Amino acid sequence: MIVDDLSGLQRRLAADFESRAAEAIAARGRFVVALPGGSVARAFFPTLALKRVDWARTEFFWIDERAVPPQDAESNYALASTLWLMPARVPASRIHRFHAELADLDRVAQVAADELVAAAGDPPRLDMALIGVGEDGHVASIFPDHGSPADRYATAVYDAPKPPHRRLTLTMPVLSGAERVVVAALGISKADVIREALTVVGGTTPVAELLRASKSTLVLLDREAASQLPLGITNRDGSP
Ligand code: 6PG
Repeated sequence: MIVDDLSGLQRRLAADFESRAAEAIAARGRFVVALPGGSVARAFFPTLALKRVDWARTEFFWIDERAVPPQDAESNYALASTLWLMPARVPASRIHRFHAELADLDRVAQVAADELVAAAGDPPRLDMALIGVGEDGHVASIFPDHGSPADRYATAVYDAPKPPHRRLTLTMPVLSGAERVVVAALGISKADVIREALTVVGGTTPVAELLRASKSTLVLLDREAASQLPLGITNRDGSP
């Protein structure tokens, strides 16, 4: 776990991303990453776009998407496109967005799952999942008390508490099965849920479940998000 100001967190994530990309590309010829929307995208994507990474061998997926067209201001794809994919000139063939503008979201989820399997195997193994946290402890579009199907890799969500209510998301087994799970939380509104996830044994929020189930995690917190943690567990680098 890293607690720092935003520029320190940006540097830490960029270094982790760059080294893991280089390792994955050397070992398997590709680096498969899944992206969030929200504040984590806005805070980290511009820095990541500047890194020296072989973008032609980096496969971009999304951890979740809102059911809106790709040019919509609410689109997680649009955010990544503006802040990262276009500035870094990522080839279009490496970009695997959810086709969230289509009416049949169940079908869209199935197509996305198939595309993920083609790039990352079956079951899919993401090299890195970048994940934000909601104030209620949701991750991607997996919300408390809504469950995440264990029998598929991506799913439609029709009743998300956070608008827009219709969404698509990768499921918990795919997120927690990533080689590297990066959870980032910024701001005081995340402090309680971060304390619960990191200090309460058997916490039931999606972020608590994710951190428990993942083999390699990097938790990035600004000082506000870390402000409810007991002193003893701050400023410790949890990376292997
Ligand atoms: C989205 C996200 C979502 C987000 C959290 C936190 O579609 O909005 O992918 O899971 O990461 O809701 O959002 P903020 O960081 O903006 O609070």
